[in-house]
Amino acid sequence: MTHKLETRDISMSFGDRKIIEGISIAVDQGELVSLLGVSGSGKTTLFNCISGIYRPTAGQVILDGEDITGTTGRISYMLQKDLLFPYKTIVDNVALPLIIRGMPARRARERAAEHFDEFGLGGTEKLYPKQLSGGMRQRAALLRTYLFSDNVALLDEPFSALDTITKGKIHRWYLDVMEKIRLTTVFITHDINEAILLSDRIYIMTGAPGQIRTEIRIRTPRGERQEYDLTDEFMEYKRQIMHLLEQ
Ligand SMILES: Nc1ncnc2c1ncn2[C@@H]1O[C@H](COP(=O)(O)OP(=O)(O)OP(=O)(O)O)[C@@H](O)[C@H]1O
Ligand SMILES: [Mg+2]
Repeated sequence: MTHKLETRDISMSFGDRKIIEGISIAVDQGELVSLLGVSGSGKTTLFNCISGIYRPTAGQVILDGEDITGTTGRISYMLQKDLLFPYKTIVDNVALPLIIRGMPARRARERAAEHFDEFGLGGTEKLYPKQLSGGMRQRAALLRTYLFSDNVALLDEPFSALDTITKGKIHRWYLDVMEKIRLTTVFITHDINEAILLSDRIYIMTGAPGQIRTEIRIRTPRGERQEYDLTDEFMEYKRQIMHLLEQ
């Protein structure tokens, strides 16, 4: 079976400085995979290569079996500092990728609005970003990313700006909605707990140059992780990952 998304031996250098080296990952349809690594190990650089913003110095990006190396616009990408446009309403912000792709504005707004309830944004269509809470803004940014995609989303630290309680809520919501829309997701995080709670698999990245050190599959299925962070299994994964990151 072909993977939904694959990178084959990706390396990226700036000048003679090698930032990432020989990165091969594979993600299947509907999978939620995280990339966990210390600051500066090249996670964002890898995303920039996958999304086509950078052409890697070596290696290929394969989407649905097709070589898309260096091509933008095929994979949706939520940047590390994703910002909604302050002077656009939420629905206009969310509809933006559809308009960029040539859909008439009215239809794009209607299409975007169809998903608002599902993303917990019902009633916010006409509001402006500053009128929403941080969690709601994040969900709006996620919805915009989703509408842009070929069903693959790259999310660079999507939840990092949230407090612990809001984070917990948005995690539960995220698991729920990803299940419904069968989105394939790769996300970057520094947060070990978050990686274990949300992922099917975790790639551990160490640098420099950044490389995939190992891959960890979480045994308990995503749908069965109520109070998972209180279990022995969770603690075991956490210990294992901390150990790997310290080496
Ligand atoms: N356009 C660029 N030109 C030169 N060096 C770059 C460029 N982009 C990134 N780098 C360097 O590559 C290294 C990795 O950066 P990158 O942003 O990919 O790390 P990261 O793992 O995403 O870190 P963080 O967790 O802090 O976001 C850094 O040392 C950075 O200075
Ligand atoms: Mg980064």
